[in-house]
Amino acid sequence: MPPSAAAGPGPAGFAPFAAQAGGSHYAIPYAGAAAQAMNLPEPPAFGTDIPFADTGPFTGFPGVPSVLPSYEIPGSNSGTSAGTGALPIPRTGEPSFYFLEGATPFGSGARASAMPGFTGAHPPFDANAVRRDFPILGERVNGRPLIWLDNAATTQKPQSVIDRLTYFYQHENSNIHRAAHELAARATDAYEGARETVRRFLNAPSADEIVFLRGTTEAINLVAHSWGRQNVREGDEIVITWLEHHANIVPWQQLCNAVGAKLRVAPVDDDGQILLDEYQKLLGSRTKVVSLSQVSNALGTVTPAREMIEMAHRVGARVLVDGAQSVSHMRVDMQQLDCDWFVFSGHKVFGPTGIGALYGKRDLLNSTPPWQGGGNMIQNVTFEKTEYHEAPARFEAGTGNIADAVGLGAALEYVERIGIDNINRYEHELMAYATRGLSTVPGLRLIGTAKDKAGVLSLALKGFTTEEVGSGLNEAGIAVRAGHHCAQPILRRFGLETTVRPSLAMYNTFADVDALVTALHRLRGGRNIF
Ligand code: ALA
Repeated sequence: MPPSAAAGPGPAGFAPFAAQAGGSHYAIPYAGAAAQAMNLPEPPAFGTDIPFADTGPFTGFPGVPSVLPSYEIPGSNSGTSAGTGALPIPRTGEPSFYFLEGATPFGSGARASAMPGFTGAHPPFDANAVRRDFPILGERVNGRPLIWLDNAATTQKPQSVIDRLTYFYQHENSNIHRAAHELAARATDAYEGARETVRRFLNAPSADEIVFLRGTTEAINLVAHSWGRQNVREGDEIVITWLEHHANIVPWQQLCNAVGAKLRVAPVDDDGQILLDEYQKLLGSRTKVVSLSQVSNALGTVTPAREMIEMAHRVGARVLVDGAQSVSHMRVDMQQLDCDWFVFSGHKVFGPTGIGALYGKRDLLNSTPPWQGGGNMIQNVTFEKTEYHEAPARFEAGTGNIADAVGLGAALEYVERIGIDNINRYEHELMAYATRGLSTVPGLRLIGTAKDKAGVLSLALKGFTTEEVGSGLNEAGIAVRAGHHCAQPILRRFGLETTVRPSLAMYNTFADVDALVTALHRLRGGRNIF
């Protein structure tokens, strides 16, 4: 029996899940100012991967009908929240095709065999417990339970993030830094607390190296236009990869056009992995900066970022890592990666939209000119001259997105509670299972078959447009993105303009994958999707 069960209602420090009256209704409690104010316990230290609490019977979200199907989560044992709850948990047998009566399972017993060596040795990861923290996952679409497989576009938000935002506006709302009154102090503490959470999440050396911005796109634009204009000259070279999102192509292209530099692109192999030999050939004394994704949003490829950074540094180039698609799936560590900048968006890691962060090495940030001028970022202004603050304030002109920064902090704390390594292990099994399942669909081509992948399964189905597949899946309540995913060059590398892109997050289950694969089988077979 896992410790969570032995401890009765949950290990010390954990609020039991309860849509039960009066109880906290979180599988994962949250910390920070709101937690203190709401008398929630302090969280364990960051990096402590912890088992879930015994959350008690799930009786539904208040006011929301319970529509959770019964899932079997490999490795879940009795005593976890799912095991002791009202959800019937099948222990053996076929995948539960919970909405497709009479459908042919694509792989009898596939779950067990998809996970060779799965021993349950890790702390139990219970996707059902996680799901209960995300109220939107109780929605119905076209009369079916929503299956959210559009996580690469945006992730859903746990109740703790939603509550944190509400709490901010109810108890803390003020502008920051400027006014010497109680609410200004609360808002400033909350905002700077969130900055410290981002620092901890990235294992950056200092919170002064964390700049809040709108998201990945704004962060790359800041670096390209501000640092780039200062440092990149005619004849210099900027290296990106074939995998990049438009946000990591266009700002560099604009910089090249403005200063007369050259954009060079590292190619990929037929699996969608960077060809390191070719990348090496692009690096030289003219290379000023390399900008690469840690995980491709279109294919899911996990790039050898650490190695690529080292190679670039050897020729004296600076390196920016686009972490938009990596932060929700894998541990990212600035001191281990040693990149010069790292950028990500809050909404892809269970936080609000309109907020993200730029990490930059302190000296680099402080020697880069501010890109926008205004309030908050100055030390002294006369009509003749302005003296700027050091980072991060020098890049945060004007009133920022204070509440959503606080919400982002809550999202990262939520991920810390679950343990990013637990998430990574679970998603690895889910990805293997999904890959296997999709390979059983006749006429289905998986685009992006690199050995190391995270989150994304891009596909084309013979005889169907991507829009037809997307809307067919939508009829079954399954949300995927169909399109070019703002990454046209990499899709064209594979001879395509668009793909269908199911993308995974920690709250997706093996049953979600079953439903996807079965729906594709039915679509392919010309049968009604239901
Ligand atoms: N960049 C997001 C995606 O890949 C929007 O879908």
